[in-house]
Amino acid sequence: MVKMKLFNDHFQNYKRYQLPKAQLVIADIPYNIANDAYASSREWYKNGEIKNGESDKANSNFFNTDVDFRVAEFMHFCSHMLVKEPKGTGKAPAMIVFCAFQQLEMVIEYGKKYGFNHYIPLVFIKPTSAQVLKVNMKIVGATEYALVLYRDKLPKFNNGGRMIKNWFRWDIDSSYPKIAPTQKPIPVLRHLIEIFTDPGDVVIDPVAGSGSTLRAAIELNRDAYGFEIDKKMYQKAAKKMLKHAEVPLF
Ligand SMILES: C[S@@+](CC[C@H](N)C(=O)[O-])C[C@H]1O[C@@H](n2cnc3c(N)ncnc32)[C@H](O)[C@@H]1O
Repeated sequence: MVKMKLFNDHFQNYKRYQLPKAQLVIADIPYNIANDAYASSREWYKNGEIKNGESDKANSNFFNTDVDFRVAEFMHFCSHMLVKEPKGTGKAPAMIVFCAFQQLEMVIEYGKKYGFNHYIPLVFIKPTSAQVLKVNMKIVGATEYALVLYRDKLPKFNNGGRMIKNWFRWDIDSSYPKIAPTQKPIPVLRHLIEIFTDPGDVVIDPVAGSGSTLRAAIELNRDAYGFEIDKKMYQKAAKKMLKHAEVPLF
């Protein structure tokens, strides 16, 4: 039976818990886009309409926890919590960091400081854009970005003999609850988890938000652990996203 635990705590406090080392860390780091967090979302306006005027989301952060996010501490966590480099080939761990385009270079540089010497950029293609409301924009954003970071040996890679391109479709499954403003779609997370891990491996999300990574991982029989600092977010993740999981939450 798979194991899963979501902690309502800072990932920096991980030493308080007896977590097994992970084959894969997936993290969607706070975008630190400060007061423009909702600039590409309909939620900037009341009921999503410009004519209604700005909502309380205009000029606000996604999370009050965003401003405090420390990338160096996150990299330290990953270097400690990922399994060590194995002797053989085809088994090494990896981390996948979703981030804003503007953060890619910073994440690569911090990764190197903590021994993640290599990276593969990933691009996710969305069929639509939330920025359509911003009428002054000629080109609207319809992509998401992530980096696969690894130390020296190539990560475990289940491609079944197929070529895997560095772009993926942003497939959404609306049967899952929508909890977090930047929630990552479960089909996308499942696809990534299948490529970089095997059943029985451990997946950790230190900034779990809605619990989407944990849900995707346990559905694929991977053990899953996560941290979420925000109490309300944590409660929604536990009650809505992870309530069907036939595994103990605590
Ligand atoms: C971008 S969201 C993650 C969204 C998530 N990937 C999803 O699909 O729902 C980042 C989350 O990290 C949380 N967070 C920020 N700093 C944290 C920390 N130091 N420890 C644990 N959680 C943190 C925030 O409260 C927020 O819910």
